[in-house]
Amino acid sequence: MPEIVASRRADATPHAAALIEGLRDIGYSLETAISDIIDNSITAGAHRIEIVTETYSDEPYIALIDDGEGMTEDELVAAMRPGNRNPLATREEPDLGRFGLGLKSASFSQCRRLTVVSRRAGQTSAAIWDLDDVAERNEWAVQLPDRFDLVDGIDRLGPQGTLVLWQKLDRLNGGHTHDVAKRAEIINRRVAETERHLRLVFHRFMEGANPLRLVLNQRLLRALDPFARKNAATIADPEETIHLRKGDVEIQSFTLPHHKQMSNKTDWDDIGGPEGHLKSQGFYLYRGKRLILHGTWFGLCRQSELTKLARVRIEIPNSMDADWKIDVKKSSAQLPSTVRERLKNVIERILAGSKRTYNKRGQKLVAHERLPMWHRIQADGQIRYRPNIEHPAFADFAESLPPDLRRGFFNCIALVGASLPIETLHADMAGTAEQIVPDRVDEDTLAQAVQATLSVLLAARKDIKEIKALMKDVDPFRSAWEDTERIIAATIETKETQ
Ligand SMILES: Nc1ncnc2c1ncn2[C@@H]1O[C@H](COP(=O)(O)OP(=O)(O)O)[C@@H](O)[C@H]1O
Ligand SMILES: [Mg+2]
Repeated sequence: MPEIVASRRADATPHAAALIEGLRDIGYSLETAISDIIDNSITAGAHRIEIVTETYSDEPYIALIDDGEGMTEDELVAAMRPGNRNPLATREEPDLGRFGLGLKSASFSQCRRLTVVSRRAGQTSAAIWDLDDVAERNEWAVQLPDRFDLVDGIDRLGPQGTLVLWQKLDRLNGGHTHDVAKRAEIINRRVAETERHLRLVFHRFMEGANPLRLVLNQRLLRALDPFARKNAATIADPEETIHLRKGDVEIQSFTLPHHKQMSNKTDWDDIGGPEGHLKSQGFYLYRGKRLILHGTWFGLCRQSELTKLARVRIEIPNSMDADWKIDVKKSSAQLPSTVRERLKNVIERILAGSKRTYNKRGQKLVAHERLPMWHRIQADGQIRYRPNIEHPAFADFAESLPPDLRRGFFNCIALVGASLPIETLHADMAGTAEQIVPDRVDEDTLAQAVQATLSVLLAARKDIKEIKALMKDVDPFRSAWEDTERIIAATIETKETQ
């Protein structure tokens, strides 16, 4: 191709007002914006990062204060420049930044006025980008205020560190510029919603020795480990490493405990999050210790009810940003084809494991020696559930009926079994399986079942401990165990006094 020579050039400096407004709309949410500011603090070596929101005043603000190394005035001015770095340059390993845009674009996505005050070696400097000021003057010039003792949040800045202050929160007030109470309510709710995101995204920094302390409105946030590693019932597979030209990718799969194995429901809900477990399964992609993406299988398999306990940690070094197409917001990525193939194998293995956890439970609940109310019958590629008419609760009662009524009784039971609402159950199972619970039975029904079961088992000369262990595992006893135990005790007492 012949070389085209250009001997003239024309000035094409972007219009400040237009471009800086454009920076606002690259798709940040409040969650990803705050996370990006926190990334900078972590890179600056912060141990404590405070988020302070003032929402009831006439001029609401959000302030982030860290105790990192801070910046000199020159560094601060450079930091305020949109695009102050070359994204292709090699970054130091722990560095969470990349494009030299985050501070500005994240801030402008939420506010029209960004003030940064930084303290380093006893020197305090401040700089302000105010979009209204830029619009008016149409030039790339940050304001350097003469005094900053009145800047909101400055009292929280320690001997070194940086304060990032967002004011003119035009995007967060939900359009309620005048109704102070309504505005405060909306901003507060949005801030509260970010909490879980922060606990998750930065959990690796918040764990272990010398952890990062993230404080939201004076409350220390707890790390949220998506793999529930502290739970003894979590199954962690061995770590695997894929060696690639630009660095190593680490992979580890986890199978979360079944919700019945989680001691408290809050823990289960916590790691499931507002989206629930079904939507939270999948790969958890970390760049360094920072969670970038989660709750997706990258199109390699479906998020199904059977696999919802599977979560896979993938860790990539920041040298691979270009291959994984990590975006400015650090909230999206794509799978490089070399890794894709390897992950397919990993997925197949995990899926088998996750399915096993559920199926094993299914078998156990209907195993023969446990006196199930229902039989699970698998034959000819079909699975049927049928009430177990030999269960003592049914058999005993039938025994007490005259023969002609007995047939009618068994017919009724068979009808219940044949009209199991399979389709509805199926739909519910595919959505929120853990919300499906056995129906509560009243005291009288429970007592009848307990007494019938008890007398059969006692007649089989089983001791009471064994009987309890058997009954504790099947419904309706399992779901009403306290009442069941009480009825057992009372029944035995009556028997003994007879
Ligand atoms: N909290 C902070 N403490 C110290 N330096 C900071 C802080 N925030 C930003 N900086 C400086 O400002 C620069 C620009 O930040 P940013 O716009 O987020 O881009 P990037 O993080 O990609 O470099 C950073 O590289 C860093 O030098
Ligand atoms: Mg940054």
